[in-house]
Amino acid sequence: MSTTEAKITEEYPPVRTGGSLLLAWRTNSKHILIVGGGEVACGRVLKALEADARVTLICPEEGLHPELKFRISNDQIYKYINREFDPIDLEEDIDMVLTAIDDPIKSKEIYELSKEKKLPINVADVPSLCDFYFMSEHRDGPLQIAVSTNGQGPKLANIIRRHISENLPNGVGEAINKVGHLRQNIRKIDSDYKSSSKRMQWMSKICEDWSIEDLKRLDDNVIEALLPYYEKRVIPSFNTIKQETFLSDKLEEATKEMNIEEDEHKETKKGQLILVGAGPGDPSLLTQKAIEALSNADLVVSDLLVPKEIFSVVKCETRFALAKSGSQKSVKSDESQKEIQHCCLEGLEKGKNVVRLKIGDPFLFGRGGEEVSFFKKKGFEVNVVPGISSALSAPMSANVPVTHRGLSDQVLIITGQGTQGKLPQVPQYHDMRTTVVLMAVGKAKELSKELLNNNYPDDLPAVFVENGNRPNERIIRATVATLGEMVEKECVVAPSTLIIGRAVNALLE
Ligand SMILES: C[S@@+](CC[C@H](N)C(=O)[O-])C[C@H]1O[C@@H](n2cnc3c(N)ncnc32)[C@H](O)[C@@H]1O
Repeated sequence: MSTTEAKITEEYPPVRTGGSLLLAWRTNSKHILIVGGGEVACGRVLKALEADARVTLICPEEGLHPELKFRISNDQIYKYINREFDPIDLEEDIDMVLTAIDDPIKSKEIYELSKEKKLPINVADVPSLCDFYFMSEHRDGPLQIAVSTNGQGPKLANIIRRHISENLPNGVGEAINKVGHLRQNIRKIDSDYKSSSKRMQWMSKICEDWSIEDLKRLDDNVIEALLPYYEKRVIPSFNTIKQETFLSDKLEEATKEMNIEEDEHKETKKGQLILVGAGPGDPSLLTQKAIEALSNADLVVSDLLVPKEIFSVVKCETRFALAKSGSQKSVKSDESQKEIQHCCLEGLEKGKNVVRLKIGDPFLFGRGGEEVSFFKKKGFEVNVVPGISSALSAPMSANVPVTHRGLSDQVLIITGQGTQGKLPQVPQYHDMRTTVVLMAVGKAKELSKELLNNNYPDDLPAVFVENGNRPNERIIRATVATLGEMVEKECVVAPSTLIIGRAVNALLE
């Protein structure tokens, strides 16, 4: 190796191959075609919308996730096509294709067709069919931090991203907005393209010398006082600017006030969490307290089971918690439970009033208790607003009095999906008891066997109330022996409540 070559090797960065070219793709008003309707498609749609893209979504309606239905009915989707993908869909003026379907053959076909048209494409979960990957992202106003593991460990990317975001100073997004404003002002007083490097150097220096707290205070007065320093290529300290301006006294006062406010904020003005029961899904069954909490919230973190009609009173950002995929969509995985808690914490730490919205009543099979102790341990105040539980409203909607003289003098409420998805222990049959089962759809067959083993009569009446108290409510009648059969035959879906006992037929004509 010659001396010159050796020098180059030392002076220039080594090439670490095998990475991806990390770019921020500006997709505002670009047309993105998304094929799929599940949880992954939800994530893709959200990312595309947040990047101001026009989204065309293709998926038969029966496969659509509630979040996507919500976005379609709220006109967030540019065009929704209610069917499977057809090659003709690529004839439109498309800029990018994203697929999130469970059919590898169809995915490959879409990939090949897109490649023929030289369209960039990402096939979810198949790195070899991706021109680009999605990254785990943190967003705060104009700030976007993305972490990629180049398809090796998306979960790890999430953990790393969370770690980074938790360690960022408060209000970085706000500071970036202010810096952007200063930059525009500098351009106004010196728009010459030859000054580009002078502008860049001065802006870089101020970002290095001023703290995030100082940058957050870059209001119009401070910017006005700063501009003459640009001409002199000098970076004054924030204190110098404060002292120099004719507003110095006022500014000082304001700054002091801000400091006091911030100190107070640090000690007492932390965000508050209210766990709110949304009732079974009919907005007129929301309590007055729930409406108040929802309309005053800064952030609502909601279960997916809560239907869109409930959100008419919400004026702030709403985030949805993803349910575990599978037949029982109403059961949240531990993973999504963690995501929810993290989402709420983020808001609380920014001093927001966070509403954690749950279907029915928060303390009845809603993991509400767990959430209260989690947030209390983290030092946040938690209030709980009860909701009308489906355990009582669904029977009523099916005209079943859960207690009825001579037929039932007690009610048992159980879940079909106990810890680790197991049925809980069912007590022996009692002919004066009504049994209400939540989350029973996926477990109907197993439950029927368990009840029969516990001496429940095989012809004891039972009724499924699907989407109780909602416009699409369905009542499906069965007996203890036919629970599984009726779920299959009538395609009963969640959310459904099952009521079993002699009281079921009490009010039948
Ligand atoms: C995770 S549990 C939550 C229960 C909720 N905390 C409550 O008090 O109603 C979800 C289950 O509630 C029941 N559920 C919720 N909303 C319902 C509705 N509108 N109609 C029938 N059942 C419903 C279903 O059994 C569903 O699987």
